[in-house]
Amino acid sequence: MRTKFLLGNWKMNKGPKEAEEFASLSAPLVDLAAAHHLEVGVAPTFVSLASVASHKPTQLILSAQNCNEHDHGAYTGEISISMLKEIGVTHCIIGHSERREYNGETSEACNLKIKALLANSLTPVYCCGESLETFEKGETLSFVSEQIKKGFASLTPEEAVKVVVAYEPIWAIGTGKSASSEIAEATIKGIRDVLKELYGSRAEEIRILYGGSVKPNNIAEYMKCPDIDGALVGGASLTIESYRELVEGMI
Ligand code: PGA
Repeated sequence: MRTKFLLGNWKMNKGPKEAEEFASLSAPLVDLAAAHHLEVGVAPTFVSLASVASHKPTQLILSAQNCNEHDHGAYTGEISISMLKEIGVTHCIIGHSERREYNGETSEACNLKIKALLANSLTPVYCCGESLETFEKGETLSFVSEQIKKGFASLTPEEAVKVVVAYEPIWAIGTGKSASSEIAEATIKGIRDVLKELYGSRAEEIRILYGGSVKPNNIAEYMKCPDIDGALVGGASLTIESYRELVEGMI
């Protein structure tokens, strides 16, 4: 059984004070999630990680939104995995489409970060997803398969099962135009088939989330799909009320 997982991607929102406020109010929704065997977490911006870490309930997962694959050294402006670990971060989003687009991150670069995270016992949440143009050309699966193969390159099955994948069609992110649950399930099943080619039956252990305009009023549809193991949520994860409704929708 794959444990369902809800991760709030706060992107460049909530400084330390606002993030602390959310963390301090999150105990009831974290308890609710735990009672239903759901994992829940948030991915604040770097400067807000420490304030969430010191005010959150233990079971609220703390994720970064990016990391550098090197342990230390002359990388101005970068943050290492050991630094994240030191303040209690256990997960890290890798290869979000906004980072691929604005920061030129490639799947090869993501692969290095994934390996470094695994070597430090952190959980990578590896994002993939196609543009509207690729979707309209009907090339979603070949595009996403390529991202998966490059991101997972040279991972052993034991490592691969520790990675969480997030399928996020770019045309659905922040647009209010979510992919239908049929489209999301079909692509996510396709991703699992690629993982099966690589890892055989162990691919059944890998969790794959859907992301892109997930809201309290549509999350239940995704959760009914057999291959969808949770959601990566931006806008709707920003307030306690909306986050709680997402949890309720997953139950
Ligand atoms: P959204 O963002 O839920 O606001 O569409 C999702 C994401 O980018 O992770």
